[in-house]
Amino acid sequence: MNYLMQEKVKRFGILVIMVFFFVSCSVINRDKKDVGVSGRTVLKVSKATQDEISKEMRETLLILNTIMNLLAEGNYTMVEKSASSMGLVRAGEHQEMRDYIWEHQLREWRMNGRAMHAQFDRIAAVANATQDTNAVLKEVGKLYGFCIGCHELFSF
Ligand code: HEC
Repeated sequence: MNYLMQEKVKRFGILVIMVFFFVSCSVINRDKKDVGVSGRTVLKVSKATQDEISKEMRETLLILNTIMNLLAEGNYTMVEKSASSMGLVRAGEHQEMRDYIWEHQLREWRMNGRAMHAQFDRIAAVANATQDTNAVLKEVGKLYGFCIGCHELFSF
């Protein structure tokens, strides 16, 4: 083999190693895709389920806003009604999400989700029993903990 051939073989070898390196990197990254750039677990559910959940989230935010306004007015009967509309009756509504959580053992999702719905029931009960804004506000504060807890861990 002359010098020119040797150079060509060497360059080809380097090229093969580089291609191998890039391919293996992309395979490794593919396996790690469950964790997004923000370090949160990415939920790979269908677009339809994502839309359903996003819609429920916006509804939850709206209900929270309604509860705060009603509290300021001292309308505890409506606070109770609004809060219980988001209670445990609403837990586990999304079939695909339920299966996905089960399959991937996402215990934190289940815990925060159930706790959030249960806390809405608690707000309703406290509003009814105490008619005391501060007591209800304390429960609303706890509710936010579950929103934050879940948002810190998961994303679409
Ligand atoms: C069990 C998990 C979980 C809980 C509990 C939770 N969220 Fe979310 N929420 C999510 C996920 C996941 C997203 C989507 C984040 C993304 O876009 O990557 C989201 C998105 C949202 C959005 C944006 C919706 C949109 O259309 O983009 C709002 C608003 C929201 N949440 C409000 C709340 C409020 C208020 C609470 C508490 C009362 C709450 N969430 C509790 C998981 C949760």
